[in-house]
Amino acid sequence: MDYDVIVIGSGPGGYVAAIKAAQNGLKTACVDKRRELGGTCLNVGCIPSKALLHASEFFRKTLHEASDLGIELGTPKIDFSKMMARKNEIVAGFNQGIAGLFKKNKIDSIVGTATFKDANTITAEGKDYTAKNFIIATGSEPTELPFAPFDEKKILSSTGALVLDAVPKKMIVVGAGVIGVELGSVYARLGTEVHFIEFLDRICPALDDTIGKAFQKLLEKQGLTFELSAKVTAIDQTNGVKVSYEAKEGTQTRDADVALIAVGRRPYTQDLGLDTIGIKLDDKGRIPVDTSFATSQPHIYAIGDVIDGPMLAHKASEEGIAVAELLAGKRTHLEYIAIPNVIYTDPEVATVGLSETDAKNMGLNVKTGQFPLKANSRARCTSDTDGIVKIVADKDSGHILGVHILSAHAGELIEIGALALEKRTTVFELAKTSHAHPTLSEALKEAAMAVIDGPIHM
Ligand code: NAI
Repeated sequence: MDYDVIVIGSGPGGYVAAIKAAQNGLKTACVDKRRELGGTCLNVGCIPSKALLHASEFFRKTLHEASDLGIELGTPKIDFSKMMARKNEIVAGFNQGIAGLFKKNKIDSIVGTATFKDANTITAEGKDYTAKNFIIATGSEPTELPFAPFDEKKILSSTGALVLDAVPKKMIVVGAGVIGVELGSVYARLGTEVHFIEFLDRICPALDDTIGKAFQKLLEKQGLTFELSAKVTAIDQTNGVKVSYEAKEGTQTRDADVALIAVGRRPYTQDLGLDTIGIKLDDKGRIPVDTSFATSQPHIYAIGDVIDGPMLAHKASEEGIAVAELLAGKRTHLEYIAIPNVIYTDPEVATVGLSETDAKNMGLNVKTGQFPLKANSRARCTSDTDGIVKIVADKDSGHILGVHILSAHAGELIEIGALALEKRTTVFELAKTSHAHPTLSEALKEAAMAVIDGPIHM
């Protein structure tokens, strides 16, 4: 055999799995059809979108908030191509960074589309490679609307929305989920009129009700508009885009320059040749695995977006580490309830664990506590008073079941909640933990106090 393990896919699931396997002494290769390592997350997902979210937010704050701080800057202008070039440089830097980590860990990087020839051999670019074990980490791809395939000019996927030549005047976003609100925010801040058409009666449907409603109001304050309970039925592309949809009032149409389709992602298993080795997909196109991430072929594992669970980079990485450790003969455990979820808008939204509704639906005896950011001293100093922290706890034991944060830096703050869930912490322990003053994190302590007997500053 050429290798102990071949990892297929170099995204945050695959490259992390490869590094951990190599660190554990396994002879490892990682194959990816892209020359640039890092997968969707680095090349066309999390990282470029966060670079643009930062730049566009900086512009919005400069435009609308600098003078409130006593800073007069004149009228700031956007150099969109420079903004895009900065984003590309950040991505390229990380591409090289992963290549460097592969070299350091003696991982062979193979460029090509991997197809199983038999259960121990893959072919990539006409060459065969054999291994004792495989980890499939091929990720996911944006879901198309059947009547409007992506052309990345007028009908955009998230990939196309990250490489536009110019800021569009009007954009319709189909689907008000995570990708929609993040990329919609980018363009709204840069001056695009952004209108959402969402199938359900709420945005980002997985969010806790309290947080989801407050979040929508804040986005509306920033100029984003939402049409809920509306189903897109057709997109005419004769002149810009004309989107037809069924709403409460009947059939409606709306014009824009471009439509961003953000209705979810689907597992990417094309070209793997899974049929050849007898691996069948489930009804959602995912690869079924057991609790050790093994497929129906016990030496072929699958992780990340191609299997069940949230399509999140860090979930894939944790699974990659878990499989690498299992292959090295170590015990490993993954606490799925403690995996956080972050939306990188302004303010950010971050959640971990159960929403109030989920907890109640599970028959748990629930008590919640909330604390608004406007009562947090640090938030007032930094003009970050929009938002709320909500903790969902078990009424009897005080165990923290869920933490939901709508605030600046929520993506950082949520790790307090992730640790609380990982360690099965109670609201009593969180409330007793000293939090530096003044910090945004005090809002979590206050929310824990709100569950117990009341916060101090409300
Ligand atoms: P999503 O599942 O978050 O949202 C899709 C939205 O589209 C839902 O609200 C759904 O009701 C709506 N929808 C579905 N079909 C529709 C239709 N025909 N017409 C109108 N609305 C429709 O999916 P999204 O935003 O595409 O993201 C895909 C995946 O990528 C998610 O699983 C997400 O977790 C992940 N992601 C995570 C990020 C993060 O962690 N910050 C950033 C970007 C993506």
